[in-house]
Amino acid sequence: MAKELDFNDRNLSLGLARVSEAAAIACAPLIGRGDEKAADQAAVDAMRRQLNTLDIAGVVVIGEGERDEAPMLFIGEEVGSGTGPGVDIALDPLEGTTLTAKDMPNALAVIAMGPRGSMLHAPDVYMDKLAIGPGFRDGVVTLDMSPSERVSALASAKGCSTKDITVCVLERPRHEDMIEELRSTDAAIRLITDGDVAGVMHCAEAEKTGIDMYMGSGGAPEGVLAAAALKCMGGQIFGRLLFRNDDERGRASKAGITNFERVYTREDMVTNDVIFAATGVTDGSILPGIKREVGFVTAETVLMRSKTGSVRRMQYRNPIG
Ligand code: FBP
Repeated sequence: MAKELDFNDRNLSLGLARVSEAAAIACAPLIGRGDEKAADQAAVDAMRRQLNTLDIAGVVVIGEGERDEAPMLFIGEEVGSGTGPGVDIALDPLEGTTLTAKDMPNALAVIAMGPRGSMLHAPDVYMDKLAIGPGFRDGVVTLDMSPSERVSALASAKGCSTKDITVCVLERPRHEDMIEELRSTDAAIRLITDGDVAGVMHCAEAEKTGIDMYMGSGGAPEGVLAAAALKCMGGQIFGRLLFRNDDERGRASKAGITNFERVYTREDMVTNDVIFAATGVTDGSILPGIKREVGFVTAETVLMRSKTGSVRRMQYRNPIG
């Protein structure tokens, strides 16, 4: 009996792919329509509906926000039929709401699932992040290094010049000093306007995407989702929570965090094997976006299991009802 309730990542993964797929397809009519809220709502509704068809006793640990600010898929919400294994879920039904509203690249529907206690319950605060792809010794770059030291360290580990390194950074006023310092190293910088889960994932496929390293601050929940992706794809990620006020420190305490200075590694953020699914919403370098043609919609999903390192890419074409 206990065996039936084990987290069977192999069987559950295919169901998980349908969940991100449903969220991405639901916001397809809202791509490029300038309405971020409507796109997000459509993705949330569809993701929740599909999640509730799975035979799991799921709890959302990374979600749309605290219970009092998110009517659905809030942190602590129970999802699934309730009859299967107990699982923790990290999700972002639409990672890149503005990207979707403006039809800009790399918006994704994202979800990760693991056994209970497998993912850090990160509060909705900022996180200072640093990520690289697989194949480097542990700690070749660290959060304690300056941006230019990270570039030099990665270039020597790669056996290339600093000008052959490309760093991905969210374009924000808070990153101006970091960008200026990176410019002094001659490294190239790929500035993105949103979507740092995709930004981090780019590092794991450096040959395809041209991005070697991700750095800068973004949402802590997105940091955990990115760590789940890298746990499947390979690569290193480090994160340190950033607090702007007591309310944010309070959120962290409520989430069970006691050491506010801690640097989290990938294994600290994702402590057990997980499955991860992402479906492209708008075209990007990791996944193509939703395609609409008369009578049909097509979506592409990447589905990964950290236990095996397997990566499945699935294209789904369906008549529009
Ligand atoms: P949304 O999809 O919720 O709009 O978030 C997009 C995002 O760019 C994340 O990828 C990133 O972690 C965060 O926003 C950055 O926050 P901010 O816009 O406050 O700099």
